[in-house]
Amino acid sequence: MSEALNLRGVQVFPGFLDRAAQQEIVNDIREVTHVAPLVRPVTSGGKAMSVRMTAAGQFGWSSSVSGYQYAPRHPNGTNWPDIPESVLRIWAQMAPNARMPECCLVNWYDPDARMGMHQDRDETDFAQPVVSISLGDDGLFRVGSVERGGQTASLWLRSGDVAVMGGDARLVHHGVDRIKAGTSTILANPGRINLTLRVVT
Ligand code: SIN
Ligand code: FE2
Repeated sequence: MSEALNLRGVQVFPGFLDRAAQQEIVNDIREVTHVAPLVRPVTSGGKAMSVRMTAAGQFGWSSSVSGYQYAPRHPNGTNWPDIPESVLRIWAQMAPNARMPECCLVNWYDPDARMGMHQDRDETDFAQPVVSISLGDDGLFRVGSVERGGQTASLWLRSGDVAVMGGDARLVHHGVDRIKAGTSTILANPGRINLTLRVVT
C-alpha cells in the first residue's frame, strides 16, 4: 500500500489505484448511472447543488426542499444498483475491520462544481469510517476540524487517490473548493467523480 499522508487526521493514499483499476471502476460506475441516473440535489434551503449525485448499495441520498435523508430507492423509484465489486475491494483494503458498506455515494463534479464545508453525520455508527475514492480531474479538498470554523488544510485529490475519514477524523468538516479541468484523461468528459463508501445503519 502506498504511504498515507495525514491531512488533519484524514488519511490520504496518493495514487492508490493504478490506471487499470481506475478504468475498471469508471466503467462500473457508468453502469450504475445507467440504472440510477445522476440527479442534482437541493439543499434543505431549497438551493440546487452544483454537484450531481447518485448511489449504489442499500441506501442512497434523497433530497428535496423539505429535507434530505438516506433512502432505499432512487427518486425514479428503482432500487439502487449493487455496489460494484471493484469498489468493495477498496473498502476491504482500507477498512478490513469495519462492517460492510451500505452506501456508495457517487458525486459528479462538473469543472465549475464545488462542495461546501460539511460533516458526514447522517450515519448511525461513527465508529465506521468513510472511504473516499477520487477519479478524473483534480479536486482541491479542504479539511477543517470537528468543530465549525478554525484552521483548515487543503490538498489536491488526484485520480486514483483514496482517502479515509475515520477515528478522530470521522466527523471533521470537509469540502471541495474547486476542480482543475483537464488534469486527468480517465473520464470521457472534463470533471471529477468522487465515490464515498459508508455504513449507514
Ligand atoms: C464528500 O464530502 O461527500 C465528497 C468529498 C470529495 O468529493 O472528495
Ligand atoms: Fe462529505
